Amino acid sequence: MTAMSIRPVMISSLRTWPKVSLSKSSSEALAAFTGARHCVTVASGTEALLIAMMALDLKPGDEVITTPFTFAATVETIVLLGARPVFVDIEPDTCNLDVTQVEAKITPRTRAIMPVSLYGQVADMDEINAIAARHGNIPVIEDAAQSFGASYKGRRSCNLSTLGCTSFFPSKPLGCYGDGGAIFTSDDALAQACREIRVHGQSARYTHTRVGVGGRMDTLQCAIVLAKLERFEWELQRRRELGARYGELLAGSGVGLLAVRPDRDCVWAQYTVFVDDRAGVQAALQEQGIPTAVHYPKPLHHQPAYAQHCCPDCCEHSVTAAARVMSLPMSADLSDADQRRVVEALGRTMHERAGAPALTGR
Ligand SMILES: Cc1ncc(COP(=O)(O)O)c(C=O)c1O
Repeated sequence: MTAMSIRPVMISSLRTWPKVSLSKSSSEALAAFTGARHCVTVASGTEALLIAMMALDLKPGDEVITTPFTFAATVETIVLLGARPVFVDIEPDTCNLDVTQVEAKITPRTRAIMPVSLYGQVADMDEINAIAARHGNIPVIEDAAQSFGASYKGRRSCNLSTLGCTSFFPSKPLGCYGDGGAIFTSDDALAQACREIRVHGQSARYTHTRVGVGGRMDTLQCAIVLAKLERFEWELQRRRELGARYGELLAGSGVGLLAVRPDRDCVWAQYTVFVDDRAGVQAALQEQGIPTAVHYPKPLHHQPAYAQHCCPDCCEHSVTAAARVMSLPMSADLSDADQRRVVEALGRTMHERAGAPALTGR
């Protein structure tokens, strides 16, 4: 969405401010979009995770079951609160948490389960919720930083568990023009706790009932998110179309494709494929003017800051994925012609690397 097209919507919402709180109206619109009873807008996706876990009263020594194949924020927020991440490996075809391994990791100290809806596809939340319920209603936090707008069995990401946390960083499906994020819940007490923690733990002005942070989402970013929500359904549809077309055009090209389960969709925060000799493929694409990225080059249990939380040989699918994943250009504004250029360049590269004679027309 261009700055020009967003301007009139933003100006009209800013005109109503401060009579109408933009934080309130954006929260209401976002909650309605997901179906959750409450939305608490916050300064970033990282802040959303931190505040959500503070609202659950996470304490030093508590354990949170999560995946090592994610962005650092998922795990750093756990560690910042003195808690311990307990890593469960991913499914090799979706790169989401392997639910079949969760139950074995539950201990009396487990205080939350935090699946990540990686690349824009939700993990098997019904199964995770069922496991959590069997073990004394352990809270489930969906790290939905990459999946805002995704559906799972007819319901929206962020409204599938105790708490859902998303990010509005510009590269995310619903991106603002700076930093922003939101927490979703249908639990009234948790929503109130998140609201208070977001403003230094205040239950009333200068009454600091609990320890909090300065975690508000900036008013301008609230206005931008509100404006962008107007065409978000169109953007989601466009992302789904582009994702499906990438899948069709790349079938048989030699790259591995991410699986999307039939009971959910993927909003393709990144269009990520699997390749061998990734550095070589990336260099060849770069030469042809095609940018790529890697989400993520190392699982977190191989990062110095988090290595002590898991043995290096554990979570083998996360290790393999980290060596092979490569993200291609993806945004709702990617044109069909640009997508074709990406696919042709990748097809040529894979063909040549397989030892076949160079294709003409380069
Ligand atoms: C899975 C995941 N969790 C959390 C975050 C943190 O979001 P933010 O950058 O808005 O703090 C990100 C951002 O990339 C993410 O991808």
